[in-house]
Amino acid sequence: PYVIAAPCIDVMDKSCVEECPVDCIYEGDRKLYINPKECIDCGACEPVCPVEAISQDRRVADEHAEFVEDNHRFFAELLPGRDTPLGVPGGSRKTGRIGVDTPMVAGR
Ligand code: F3S
Ligand code: F3S
Repeated sequence: PYVIAAPCIDVMDKSCVEECPVDCIYEGDRKLYINPKECIDCGACEPVCPVEAISQDRRVADEHAEFVEDNHRFFAELLPGRDTPLGVPGGSRKTGRIGVDTPMVAGR
């Protein structure tokens, strides 16, 4: 799957959301997250991000390596203030803005 890293934080341009054919890019509070279980690896999101925050997980720059696991955690673990993990919700148009970040992103 593709991964969104640190440059998205507090920028949240959201051009990527428009491009994704499977609607698997979800909005936290200060950053967006790609669902690794829903991303079909099409790559359409990567070139449209103005701050180059997106790359394939195998090609994430060393300095952003921790974002691979963090994008996974956003869906697999319980986020602050929620009763259940997001899991595989079937599209961000359905969920709308999630409005909360992983602890790692919230701490930046
Ligand atoms: Fe973020 Fe870039 Fe998308 S800033 S919202 S990853 S277009
Ligand atoms: Fe969507 Fe980008 Fe994956 S456009 S399918 S999140 S590679």
